[in-house]
Amino acid sequence: MQTCDFYLLIFLPVLLSSAQTEEKLMVTLMLVIEGKFVYSEDSVTLECRIEDALTDWIYRWYKGSERNEGTQIKGVNGHTYTIESVTQDESGVYRCEVYGNSPPHYSEFSNPVELTVQERTVRLDVISSHTDGRIFEGDQVSLQCHVNGNTVGWTYELHTNGTQRLYKKKMEGTFTINSVTLRHRTFYWCQAGKGRLRMHSSDVVKLDVSELFSEPHLTVHPSPLVGYGHNVTLRCQSMTEFPEKQLVYQFYKETASISPKTSQNEFTIQSFQMEDTGSYWCDVAVKGTEKKRSNQVQVPELQSYEITVDYTTGNAIRLGLSGLVLLVLLVLVSDCFWNRVLSKGNRSQKEIYNCE
Ligand SMILES: *[C@@H]1O[C@H](CO)[C@@H](O)[C@H](O)[C@H]1NC(C)=O
Ligand SMILES: *[C@@H]1O[C@H](CO)[C@@H](O)[C@H](O)[C@H]1NC(C)=O
Repeated sequence: MQTCDFYLLIFLPVLLSSAQTEEKLMVTLMLVIEGKFVYSEDSVTLECRIEDALTDWIYRWYKGSERNEGTQIKGVNGHTYTIESVTQDESGVYRCEVYGNSPPHYSEFSNPVELTVQERTVRLDVISSHTDGRIFEGDQVSLQCHVNGNTVGWTYELHTNGTQRLYKKKMEGTFTINSVTLRHRTFYWCQAGKGRLRMHSSDVVKLDVSELFSEPHLTVHPSPLVGYGHNVTLRCQSMTEFPEKQLVYQFYKETASISPKTSQNEFTIQSFQMEDTGSYWCDVAVKGTEKKRSNQVQVPELQSYEITVDYTTGNAIRLGLSGLVLLVLLVLVSDCFWNRVLSKGNRSQKEIYNCE
């Protein structure tokens, strides 16, 4: 008896539901999106379809979970539900319900549709022509701001904490620096956003610009101490790990250049004259890079350090020799004095020393 009751309970809902299927209309809910995933700020449309397009249906929309329809979305009663700029909070399971306004009243729920809104991420990539990713002065570098998902209508901004302030709002995410310098060796990040909505920021990226050639060092040969009448050679030295890169040198005196741009790192001033006196320097560049300036050297150079060295070495010898000569003279003079004193009876000694 108890078993019969149990079966009856099981069968009753099954019979009821099969009776309903006779007149049941198919309500299909679809998510209309571009691409595979939905990201925050995307425009999302849910479309509710029913086979019987003739009846004047009223649509109700619900946001809930897999198990229940949840709560009705207020103020929406068309067959489509569009969210212009979706947020992650709008993730959930959606259902539509069609409702026949005129009798016989009929109501049917659609299938559930899950909407998963992923967070927008912004990434800043640094693209250089070197396969190993290194960046040298003079290189063209692209800073690319990437946003996942649909980016129609998005704008991009590049920010830096360096001295440059040239990166403005743009419709595409690529920012190009035609010739990077060491001044670009700083931190960058980008922001992307749509309309007046909040901007998403990328991580901070350091632009690691390596030296293509070192700051030049000017030396004077044979020595900056050597001046008038000599041939004085200026040598401008800069290091590079790229021997194929042609370094271009130029030499200057005070503010004026004294040579054309040259591939030679030496410049000779023939027979240095008084009017050549001055401060000399050079600069170096590689095609497409900024010039780098050397130290300045005064020619001829008069430094207290050099003078001190002169006194301590050469003059010590000279002083020593002078002292020795004085000593010999003193001995001779004193001998003559005593000879004079004792000269009265001794003429032969007087003749030998011949002091008179
Ligand atoms: C930029 O930021 C980095 C890291 O926070 C810091 O080390 C650097 O000094 C900053 N540069 C300038 C010019 O503010
Ligand atoms: C300077 O150089 C010129 C040309 O190379 C040479 O003829 C001359 O002898 C040199 N003068 C001195 C003082 O070395």
